[in-house]
Amino acid sequence: MANVLKVIIFHLLLVFDVGHVHGSDGASTAGVYDVTEYGAAPSDRDNKGAFLAAWRAACGSAAGNSTLLVPEGTFTVGAVEFSGPCTGDKAPVVVIDGVLQPCAGGCRLSSGAWVTFSGLENLLVTGAGTLDGRGARTGKPKHKTTTLLFDKVANSTVRGLAFVNGRGFHVNFHRCTRVTADGLRIHAPAASRNTDGIHVGGSSHVRILDTAIGTGDDCVSVGPGSTDVVVSGVACGPGHGISVGSLGREEGEADVRGLVVRNCTVRGTTNGLRIKTWPGSQPGRASNITFEDITMADVSNPIFIDQQYCPHRHCSDVDKPSLVQISDVTFKRIEGTSRSRVAVQLRCSEDRPCTGVRLDGVNLSCGEQPCHEQFENVQGTPAAAAQAPIPTVRPEEAADGASGTEQPGQ
Ligand SMILES: *[C@@H]1O[C@H](CO)[C@@H](O)[C@H](O)[C@H]1NC(C)=O
Ligand SMILES: *[C@@H]1O[C@H](CO)[C@@H](O)[C@H](O)[C@H]1NC(C)=O
Ligand SMILES: *[C@@H]1O[C@H](CO)[C@@H](O)[C@H](O)[C@H]1NC(C)=O
Ligand SMILES: *[C@@H]1O[C@H](CO)[C@@H](O)[C@H](O)[C@H]1NC(C)=O
Repeated sequence: MANVLKVIIFHLLLVFDVGHVHGSDGASTAGVYDVTEYGAAPSDRDNKGAFLAAWRAACGSAAGNSTLLVPEGTFTVGAVEFSGPCTGDKAPVVVIDGVLQPCAGGCRLSSGAWVTFSGLENLLVTGAGTLDGRGARTGKPKHKTTTLLFDKVANSTVRGLAFVNGRGFHVNFHRCTRVTADGLRIHAPAASRNTDGIHVGGSSHVRILDTAIGTGDDCVSVGPGSTDVVVSGVACGPGHGISVGSLGREEGEADVRGLVVRNCTVRGTTNGLRIKTWPGSQPGRASNITFEDITMADVSNPIFIDQQYCPHRHCSDVDKPSLVQISDVTFKRIEGTSRSRVAVQLRCSEDRPCTGVRLDGVNLSCGEQPCHEQFENVQGTPAAAAQAPIPTVRPEEAADGASGTEQPGQ
């Protein structure tokens, strides 16, 4: 009898107040696990416990198709890890419509990550919300904390969210396979250090699409062990541009292989397209890298291979060459304006000269001045077509390349 009554009440509730009806496992009938129904509230209090309770319910739901929802409102949450595996290897959809912030003090963010998703498959993190790292507001943050970390995540996407004022990388794909960042907006002050927009490391089959990034460091950085990475439709600036590296810092680093950066704009940055390796480095490789259809505006070092990368002059072996071998790198249809006079710098390692570097249709202007280029330890003649027409080059192609690279290397 009591059960019958329960069922009747359940159905009445369903009719009159759909939003607050719960199935037997705690979710609303639509499979939505709303963090506010697990005790989260927009306040300065750490909501981590409620977030994790809602996650455990959504991740463990046998029905599948569950959604973890952070509704509108500003929620404080300390470092939190949403880990898998979930039932049926199908992670919930995570919808963040509100603003997430770490506590102003007391959340003890460490040098790890703030919001982590780990050991998951088929995850989608999306919504109209914002992850606000509050890095800029607190001056120079004590720790370099990644805002959003995907660690050992496969076949998954983060889409549409905004990221502001990170204390370190805004998004980090670490040990992931087939992951996509799509339609993100990432902003931090130009003066905030190490606030890379999206970092990729130890990951394969990564797509970074249609995303606007302006921070105090690289818009996108592709670190060791990254293979098959495509960056497309990224609007970058301010910041340090789109980079491979830095490479060669740690022993046993895995190669970077198969990167395509295409259809991007780079505006007002200190570097444009860059490959950076440390001097006196560990051995390593970076190969099969293509940059194409890139528009630059007011970029200081538009095309830059830097094998003596040493920021803030903190390198122990500054006089020793890098042991990272760079090969098969193409810069194709790169147009726009350079803020410096050296539009193309290929400064390769004397111990591992670059091989297979091609400059094809590089058309950069340097204001009133002619552009210069600088080549060190580059095997072959990467810019032959642009520098001095050779018989096999059609005249219009030679003319195309001329304005950016008309000065022979110095
Ligand atoms: C999950 O969603 C799919 C597609 O929307 C639907 O076909 C399926 O019936 C749903 N499964 C459950 C258990 O709700
Ligand atoms: C990811 O998807 C691919 C292709 O759909 C599939 O072959 C692979 O097994 C999946 N990997 C994981 C870890 O789910
Ligand atoms: C290039 O990127 C822009 C976004 O910046 C996108 O709207 C456009 O469709 C892309 N074009 C191609 C050919 O991929
Ligand atoms: C180079 O990288 C691209 C992108 O990952 C890939 O499609 C292509 O097969 C690679 N080419 C070689 C020769 O490895």
